[in-house]
Amino acid sequence: MVKHFEFDSIVVGGGGAGLRTSMQLAAAGERVAVISKVFPTRSHTVAAQGGIAAALANVSDDKWLWHMYDTIKGSDYLGDQDAIEHMCKNAAAAIYELEHMGMPFDRNTDGRIYQRPFGGMTKNFGESSISRTCAVADRTGHAMLHTLYQKNIELKTKFFIEWIGLDLIRDEDGDVLGLIALELQTGDLGIFHAKNTIFATGGAGRIFQASTNAFINTGDGLGMAARANISLEDMEFWQFHPTGILGAGVLVTEGVRGEGGYLINSNRERFMERYAPSAKDLASRDVVSRAITQEVIDGRGVGPNKDGVYLTLSHLGEELINEKLPGIREISIKFANVDPVKDPVPVVPTVHYMMGGIPTTLNGQVRDGVSQKEVNGFYAVGECACVSVHGANRLGSNSLLDLIVFGKAAGQHILDSSKNKKLKKLPKDVTKKTIDRLKKIDSKSSLENPREVGEELRATMQKHCGVFRFPQLLDEGLVKVNELKRRIRNLSIQDNSKVFNTARTEALELQNLIEVALATIASAKNREESRGAHSRADFPKRDDKSWLQHSLYNPKDGSLAYRPVKMKPLSVKSFPLKERVY
Ligand code: FUM
Repeated sequence: MVKHFEFDSIVVGGGGAGLRTSMQLAAAGERVAVISKVFPTRSHTVAAQGGIAAALANVSDDKWLWHMYDTIKGSDYLGDQDAIEHMCKNAAAAIYELEHMGMPFDRNTDGRIYQRPFGGMTKNFGESSISRTCAVADRTGHAMLHTLYQKNIELKTKFFIEWIGLDLIRDEDGDVLGLIALELQTGDLGIFHAKNTIFATGGAGRIFQASTNAFINTGDGLGMAARANISLEDMEFWQFHPTGILGAGVLVTEGVRGEGGYLINSNRERFMERYAPSAKDLASRDVVSRAITQEVIDGRGVGPNKDGVYLTLSHLGEELINEKLPGIREISIKFANVDPVKDPVPVVPTVHYMMGGIPTTLNGQVRDGVSQKEVNGFYAVGECACVSVHGANRLGSNSLLDLIVFGKAAGQHILDSSKNKKLKKLPKDVTKKTIDRLKKIDSKSSLENPREVGEELRATMQKHCGVFRFPQLLDEGLVKVNELKRRIRNLSIQDNSKVFNTARTEALELQNLIEVALATIASAKNREESRGAHSRADFPKRDDKSWLQHSLYNPKDGSLAYRPVKMKPLSVKSFPLKERVY
C-alpha cells in the first residue's frame, strides 16, 4: 500500500538538528512533519555527552573570535571561515535560547551556566586552555534532545515515528519535491510531497567496525542523496574519538579530560606530554588519537591484546565523578567492568564523527555538482551536512552547536524564501524505482546476505581507512569496496513479512552505508596530503599549495572534483594559514 501525505516542509531525522529546524518552522505556523527511524528522543543526539561550546565567559574572559580561531585551527584550515564565523558568533544566543526553553544546564555557584574545558578550546588565540563547553553533567545531548522534543510537541509538529526514508523525489528540473519512505510497523510506503525537504539524518559511523555511533547511524541521508546524484563533500575526513571503551567502542566523554582526567600508557607515563607539550590531553582529537595509536604501535599498549591505553580519573574523587561524570562511571562499570573511582578505564580511538557530508550553504541549502548550484527545495543540517565548519577535524562540543545554529538558519531561510512557493507536481511513476529496489530485496533471487556483506564492509573500512592511512591499503580497499557495491546490488532476504522486518531494514541501510564507504575511501585515496583526521603515511605533511580544497565526490561515476576553501570570513579579518601545533 502507498500512502500519500502533503506538507509545507518535511524534516527527515528527529535528532537535534531536525528538531531545531522543525521547531523554527512550526513556530511560524508551517505545516511541518518530522520523519524518524526511531522515537525522536532515541536519536543519536541523545548520546552526546560532554557539552556544547559557546563563548559565554562564565568562568573566565572569552570571546567568540577566540572560539572562531580555535575552530579554524582545529579544522586544520579546511573549515570555511564564513561558516565558522556564523556558528561561533551565534553560539551564545543559541545557548540562551535553549536555556529559556528549559534545558537544565549545570550551574556555577553564582547561578550561571557551568562550562568545562574541552580539547582545542583556548583563551586568547591559543594562549591556554579555557572553559567554554556548557554542560549538563555528561548527558548534555540527552537534555538537549528532550528539550527540543517537548518544544516541538508544544508547537504541534507532526511526527512520523519509525519510518525510514528511502528515496528523494527529484523532478526533471532537478528540484526536490519530497521523499518516499517506508513505515517499519506495516511495511507500507509513503509519498511525502512537500515544498521543502530537510535532511537531518545524522552520521554514518557504522561503516566502521569500532564506533561510538548508534546502530541507527547508517548514512541514510547520504545514501538517498547519492542515489539522487548529489555530490558528497570532504568524505575522507572521519574523526576517531580518542576514548571509546576498549572492546566495546562506547564513548567516554572528552569531558573526563576536561575535568582533569589524563591518559597513561603501560609504563604509567602521561605520554601526551610528548605529543602535545602545551595542550597535552586536551589537544585536538586527531592529535590525541594518533598519539594513542602510536603508543600501541610502539608496544606501550594496555589490555589483553595491548591495543589500548588507560584513562585515569580516580584522582578527581568520587564526589566530582558522581556529580559531573555519573554516566561515565555507569558506562565504565557496565562495559569495561571497571569503577573509575578506583581504577583507570581502558580506552582506544573509536570512529565518532563524519566531518564531510551533503554540501550546503550557510542557510542549509544543498549545493550540487561542480557548479555547487543550490538544489531547489532541498536542505541538509547537522552531521549529514557539510557546511563546512569542521573541515578536516571537528573540535569536541562544536557538534551540538552546529545542530542548533544551522538547524535554526535552515528553518529561517525556508520561512524567508518560500512564502509564495507552490507545491510542484510530482513526476509520473514516482515510486517505481523504489518499489523495484524493494522487490529485488524480497525476490530471494540471490544469496547475498546483508549481515555477511555488512560485516565485510565494516572490516574493510576499519583495516583500509583507519587512523593512519597507507597507499597500498587505500588502493586495495577501494577495489574491495567497489566489489562489495556490486554484491550489495544483489542483496536478498529470506523473510518477506511486512511487519517490523528488521532484515529488510538492515538491507536498505546497507545500501546507504556502501555509498558512504565508497565516497570515503575514494576521497581518501585521492587526497595526497595529511590534514586533520586524514593522515597519509606516504604524504605526511599538510600541502596548502595543492590541497587547500574541499573534495566533491560524484556518486554517479566515482569521480572527484574540488572547490577552494573559503578563507574570507563574513565580517572579521581572515585567519591566515599557520602550522598547527598544540
Ligand atoms: O566527548 C564527548 O563528550 C563528545 C562530544 C562531541 O563529540 O562533541
